[in-house]
Amino acid sequence: MRGAGAVGYNAGVEEQRLPGGRHVGGVRIGDTVHRRTNPWTPTVHAVLRHLEAAGFEGAPRVLGFDEQGREVLTFLHGDTIGERHPWPAWPHSDEALRQVAAWMRRLHDITAAFVPPDGATWLAGSWHPGLIIGHHDASPYNAVWNDEGLVGFVDWDTAAPSPREFDLAHLALTWVPLHARHVAEFQGFTAFEDRSRRLHVLLDAYGYDGDRTAFAGAVIGRARRQAAVIRRMAQGGQTSLLRFAEELDQAVIEVQALPASFWRA
Ligand SMILES: Nc1ncnc2c1ncn2[C@@H]1O[C@H](COP(=O)(O)OP(=O)(O)O)[C@@H](O)[C@H]1O
Ligand SMILES: [Mg+2]
Repeated sequence: MRGAGAVGYNAGVEEQRLPGGRHVGGVRIGDTVHRRTNPWTPTVHAVLRHLEAAGFEGAPRVLGFDEQGREVLTFLHGDTIGERHPWPAWPHSDEALRQVAAWMRRLHDITAAFVPPDGATWLAGSWHPGLIIGHHDASPYNAVWNDEGLVGFVDWDTAAPSPREFDLAHLALTWVPLHARHVAEFQGFTAFEDRSRRLHVLLDAYGYDGDRTAFAGAVIGRARRQAAVIRRMAQGGQTSLLRFAEELDQAVIEVQALPASFWRA
């Protein structure tokens, strides 16, 4: 987060630091969110505009840039986890599993028709026909929820082309959850014996017609790849991130230990 612009006053309008904000962060000004940009911001905006044109409601709208060069997006109203501990109940509900999976199915179906602009830059990966655009950090920390259910997801910097399974595996890790047990426990999750059923609620709501036993490999691959990305970032000096890589290593060990029956519907 950039120091000076992060908290303060802007033309007399109060900037409110947003909670959570694990790396990029941002501020709220009225009904807008202002966030610092990255090399891939224009490409992410093209995705968000594609979603808007398709009538997809579950994402912020792009409004442009402010005088500090920050991106300006619409604020999604609702409850977020932010820095709260313990968590509220909604992230662990069956309803959340169904709604986040249905949300992701629509995202993937709509972006199957997305063709990136020339010179597109992504946080990771590159596009070729046949890929969808995944959010890739659609975890409870980036969800907005209200009385009617899921409003949408924020924090689109990680959006990038991928196969469907790669994004869906992240949903399984963070919502079933298939995270390391100590991480899930910290988040207030207790229903470990219920996780196979919960996985299938998620996959059914997505309409997943792939091989569910092979989906284990997608989850393991996703966790490993994410741990590798985090270790690369940590080499750049962000050593506080290494803990997250270790948690993912532990998730891999625990997911590998699940019986074959876990993955059968
Ligand atoms: N467009 C938005 N609408 C509503 N809340 C938002 C929006 N953007 C960010 N937030 C809130 O601010 C928090 C931090 O912003 P986020 O973009 O997720 O930053 P980071 O990349 O640091 O995680 C989010 O978890 C969410 O609570
Ligand atoms: Mg976030």
